[in-house]
Amino acid sequence: MAVTQADADGLDASDPLASYRSEFFRGGQAGDIDRDINGGGRDDDEAYLCGNSLGRLPHATIERLSDEVAREWGTALVQGWDRWTDLPTIVGDLIGVEILGARPGETVVADSTTVNFYKLAVGALRARPRGVVLTDASNFPTDRYVLQGLDREIRLLAAEAPDDAVIDALQSGDVALVTLSHVSYRSGVRRDLPAITLAAHDAGALVLWDLSHSAGAIGIDLAVNDVDLAVGCTYKYLNGGPGSPAFLYVASRLQHDLSQPIQGWFGAKDIFAMGPAYEPAPSSTKFLSGTPSILGLAAVEEGARITARAGIDAIERKAASITTFLIECLDEAGADVVTPRDAHRRGAHVAIRDPLARERCDALAAQRVIADVRAPDIIRFGLSPLYTRYQDAWRAAHVLSTMKDGSR
Ligand SMILES: Cc1ncc(COP(=O)(O)O)c(C=O)c1O
Repeated sequence: MAVTQADADGLDASDPLASYRSEFFRGGQAGDIDRDINGGGRDDDEAYLCGNSLGRLPHATIERLSDEVAREWGTALVQGWDRWTDLPTIVGDLIGVEILGARPGETVVADSTTVNFYKLAVGALRARPRGVVLTDASNFPTDRYVLQGLDREIRLLAAEAPDDAVIDALQSGDVALVTLSHVSYRSGVRRDLPAITLAAHDAGALVLWDLSHSAGAIGIDLAVNDVDLAVGCTYKYLNGGPGSPAFLYVASRLQHDLSQPIQGWFGAKDIFAMGPAYEPAPSSTKFLSGTPSILGLAAVEEGARITARAGIDAIERKAASITTFLIECLDEAGADVVTPRDAHRRGAHVAIRDPLARERCDALAAQRVIADVRAPDIIRFGLSPLYTRYQDAWRAAHVLSTMKDGSR
């Protein structure tokens, strides 16, 4: 390959975010928890390229969770709720305001992305009692499955339908809700969120974005773009941990009129009034339902703090630069890159199409390059900007280029 390891090393040396890598647990040192648990430890030299699926563990989270367990749960016991009750909105604002560009009071963290998607989709359709739901066939399965369970016609655009096709489809005038992934979990294509949001509003529709593959990787500017509704995972680029609670965002201007279907006590005006009938909170907390996972929220808070401190603009710049570098390396390796070449049209992962995706991904793992497969033929390389090195990207393409199978 003409792009050399020295090129990658040079880029790592001048990476303004390089120091953030040391904030994440990577294992490999004697006595560390990973070695203790797995009897081997992960190798610091491993190229972990799955941060778009499950982000790394921050050191701060290890400390915070031990503290939260021993001091908060162990000692405060039930009195901990004096502090814990507000955690969904505190962590919500950390993510919403500092990372997604929302206004204070528009974002909460609770439940899974699936459940939050259900709540907001039902809320939107109650507010638009007539009209269809517009989405595309490559939207994440859980979103499509939730929509299939709602009693509303779905207009399904082709997989990876271009933005223009979405905007054209909105001209029919009978769309109640358009819901799409901002960045595609497969191809890594980034949709034109400002243009589609504007077109949806012009057509009288509401828009619900799934930000799972963009939150913490690129800037979103929810308020500037006048987005109605959004949901997303915190265990990917926000490094909240496996199964960590998700965020949901509702623009302030909609919060009064929008209702949600899971009317639990945490969404009530006064949780402890325990009255006979549900009265929703007059704020974003009305989109909560049951008791939030406090340990999960604590982990999300630590992960999101690192992202907020690094700054989403700097993170987006690194995402653009490292994905550009990987695409260049993959081109040289003869791979079939399906992710757009324009950095403004992608997130922080790069996908290639390969008929031998599964075998190839296993062979990469054997050489300490951890990527993943989305059936039948996509290999994804997630380049989470806070801890992925240019040398990791280079090595992925280099190992790929050494595989001999006659398929390229
Ligand atoms: C785009 C997208 N939406 C939703 C989900 C599912 O989220 P959850 O399982 O937390 O409900 C995922 C999971 O990877 C995803 O990638």
